[in-house]
Amino acid sequence: MHGIGRWRRACSGGKRQRRVREPEIVMPRAVIIGSGNIGSAVAGRLKAIGYDVVMANSRGPSSLTDHARRLGITPGTLEDAAGAADFVLIAIPQHAVAKLPPRLFARTSTETVVLDAGNYYPRLRDGTIAEIDAGMPDSQWVEQQIGRPVIKMFNTIHAGRIADAHRPPGAPDRICLPVAGDDVAAKARAVALADLIGFDGIDAGPLAQSWRQQPGMPVFCTHVPTAKATAALAQARHDAVEAKRQEALDRARRWSRDGADVGRLPAG
Ligand SMILES: NC(=O)c1ccc[n+]([C@@H]2O[C@H](COP(=O)([O-])OP(=O)(O)OC[C@H]3O[C@@H](n4cnc5c(N)ncnc54)[C@H](OP(=O)(O)O)[C@@H]3O)[C@@H](O)[C@H]2O)c1
Repeated sequence: MHGIGRWRRACSGGKRQRRVREPEIVMPRAVIIGSGNIGSAVAGRLKAIGYDVVMANSRGPSSLTDHARRLGITPGTLEDAAGAADFVLIAIPQHAVAKLPPRLFARTSTETVVLDAGNYYPRLRDGTIAEIDAGMPDSQWVEQQIGRPVIKMFNTIHAGRIADAHRPPGAPDRICLPVAGDDVAAKARAVALADLIGFDGIDAGPLAQSWRQQPGMPVFCTHVPTAKATAALAQARHDAVEAKRQEALDRARRWSRDGADVGRLPAG
């Protein structure tokens, strides 16, 4: 989003006043829906590169006082999440996407890139989502729920690694983040964002192919650099999606790393 110049009155020797345009620096802005592990980790990186970050959750701004102090985010409401921003990140459990206010993004600019970090963990955390169980990629379902295109990103990395494993460009152990979606320009902006916050983003194809980066697939939470991530995406087998998801769920339950309380029944 571009900065808007500001006008001020300039004095020239006490005689005539003329108006001059002062350059105004407008901070890039991101909105994060979800104040948990992944939302907080990404917020920290965005703040580090100079973003103004608004965060919203289901409990409202008063629950975000500590986040504001710790991360420097601005607490917001879900409705704020639909306002002007360069990026909106959806970082909530999959089942909760269906509980977002209807038409939340109706007035959001088409320029805003909506990122989805979610993973579907059926039954224990996310209940049953028939469309995904029937084969729809997780983020295509999200896109359908919110009624606007999404870019799948950040679902393949543990929140802790976002906070502590960012690296400068060219570092041999720089982690690669697959970025899937149908809008090529939006995807390019997401890849550029990954780079700015310390990761190599790669175009992982259209959203219809995003099952390649879902839970349990070879690239999922392996935190590998670009060459290995590219090979892992190519190795993914569609007929293994459900079996691999189950393996990932079992692992997540054992390790309690990814998965946002995957051992807890979703509320409601
Ligand atoms: N944890 C990881 O390392 C990791 C890595 C990659 C991807 N993921 C995926 O990212 C998603 C989020 O994971 P997480 O670990 O960050 O979860 P989390 O720590 O449990 O946080 C979930 C957040 O979602 C918010 N939320 C829940 N229902 C909501 C609703 N209806 N409206 C608005 N906000 C709502 C919660 O806010 P309230 O507390 O106010 O309800 C909370 O801030 C999941 O799909 C997960 O699988 C996680």
